[in-house]
This record gives sequence, structure tokens and C-alpha cells, in this order.
Amino acid sequence: MPRSSQTIPPRQPAKDLLTIANLSSRHISALIKQAKHLKSKRRAGKMPRPLVGKTLGLIFEKPSTRTRVSFEAGMNHLGGHSLFLEAEKIQLSRGESLSDTAQVLSGYLDGLVVRTFDQATLEEWATHATIPVINGLTDQCHPCQILADLFTISEKKKRLKGIKLAYVGDGNNVTHSLLEAGARMGMHVSVGCPTGYEPDQRIIEWSQEEATKTQATIEVTHDPLIAAENADVLYTDVWISMGQEREQKRRLKALTPYQLNERLLRKAKPGAIVMHCLPAHRGEEISTGALDGPQSVVLEQAENRLDMQNAILIDWLGRASS
Ligand code: CP
Ligand code: NVA
Repeated sequence: MPRSSQTIPPRQPAKDLLTIANLSSRHISALIKQAKHLKSKRRAGKMPRPLVGKTLGLIFEKPSTRTRVSFEAGMNHLGGHSLFLEAEKIQLSRGESLSDTAQVLSGYLDGLVVRTFDQATLEEWATHATIPVINGLTDQCHPCQILADLFTISEKKKRLKGIKLAYVGDGNNVTHSLLEAGARMGMHVSVGCPTGYEPDQRIIEWSQEEATKTQATIEVTHDPLIAAENADVLYTDVWISMGQEREQKRRLKALTPYQLNERLLRKAKPGAIVMHCLPAHRGEEISTGALDGPQSVVLEQAENRLDMQNAILIDWLGRASS
């Protein structure tokens, strides 16, 4: 998992959107501002159409509802088109090389969203494609989700700096992007997870190092109540991520004490919001009461994927043409 490129955000925005760690706090703030603007335009029925004539390809090796549909709908709103390419229905599945595929698609398309397993595979797409490659989720991280979540938190809490976000459950791809984002934006991120399910040590170390520059704090504890204490945001994600289905029994047993439920909500601040990237499994990582209760913002959180990704599309695809 190469992390070396993530220590310093580049002066020039990168061609690709592969991780949150590659984005500066200034760039993230600009994306949030643009997402807010686009949301108000969308709701007023006055969407700008800066991507007329542009085509976005989506190559997905894993299932998706939100990421796929919000990117496709977003391209439509912005005046462009999208093409969904199931990995098993293109020649890649019959042995054509990733490098040839990436170069050929670069001649037809203006951007590519890739959902795959290894971060290294995503990086290979980015290396060989001459068009922007956007991470639509890997085993390592989920930057588009967490950029949208930063937008949701800033809408609900009016700021990011100093906000305490408690993540309880499996230290997975969503956790990694939350850690990177929290560290970069000066938030306090506390992860409550069982032994053996901690986030990647390299991402914890990167985030702790970054946090020293932004007055953020990064904490990993095995006590979910400590993580939730005084939190402004309570966040969880599935216990069995895509590709981990064979570990189901072991994971359910280890993670059961880490459910986001009313007990944890009582530990958080009274006005705390409940977030989940979805899809959710009621009764597993989150109780029905927490997911569907008055503190939950999960549906608006999902809707905000559209506005943040529209901001991303205008930035990366619009930039490519200028
Ligand atoms: N949250 C998220 O990425 O959902 P999908 O898997 O449905 O895209
Ligand atoms: N951690 C989950 C996120 C789904 C959006 C997974 O990778 O399956």
C-alpha cells in the first residue's frame, strides 16, 4: 500500500482523486463550498451545465447503489453523460491488460470512476489513464463518501474544526478516510473498535502526524463508550465489508459490543448527529432506534453524495478540459 505520495498534498491539484490525504485542507474547503452552492442550485431547479459534451466512465468490480447512481445522475444534471462498465462485461475480464484498457478508454472518455479491491489496482488505473481517475471505493479508502460527509457535518454543525467525531465498529476503508479527513481538517476523531479490527497502523500514524499540524486529535480505543463520550457526530459502517463475506461469523462475534445504539447516544452530546455511509444492517452495526431516530441524518448524508460529487466532477473533469 504505497503511502509515500500522501505525506505532503501537492501544490497543483492532482490529476486523480485517489485518497483524502492527497487533498489540501484548502481544496477540501473549496469543494464543500461548491457542493453547498450546487445543492442550492439543484433544489431551486437551476443547475449549471458545465459538463456538456463530457462523458464519465464507471468501472465497478463491486456492487453499488449510491456511488453509481449519484455519479450517473450528477453527470446528467451537469449536462454530460455517463457509461457504466461492469468489469466482467468488458475485455478486461478476458485478459486484456489494465494498462491497454486505461489508455484506450482515455481516448473516449473525460473521466473514470473506479470501484475495486486493492488501492494498488486503482493506482495502476491512474498511472495508465491520461484522464482523471476518481476512487469510487477501494478496500483501503472511500474518499468521495467522506468528502460528502464533511459537507454534511459542516451543514449540520456549521464547522469542522474542533468537532468530535466518534466512529464505532470495524476499522475499515470508511474509517481510514475519516481519519485522514479529520486529521487534515482539525477534527477530533475517536475510533472505538475491537482488538484485531483497528484501522491500518500506517493510516493511524499518518493521521496522528498530520493532526499535530491542525490541532486535531486522533484516538483509537477498544472501549466504544470512551470513543462516544461528548461526541458531536456518531458514525458507523457495516461490520462485513464487500469482499469479507467469508469472515462473517467471526466478525459478528467480535463486533457485537460495538453497535451504535441508544447507549452510545447517551454518552454523546445531546445534539449529536448519527451518520452511516449506508447500506446499513439494522440490529448489527446500528440499532433501528439510532438509524431511524431523530438524531439520524443518514438520508441527507446519502443525498449529499450527489452535490459533493457534482463539485468533484466539475473540478476534475472541468479542469481536464481547460
Ligand atoms: N455508501 C456507498 O458508497 O454506497 P454504495 O455502495 O451503494 O455505493
Ligand atoms: N465498508 C463498506 C462500505 C460500503 C459503502 C464496504 O467496503 O463494503
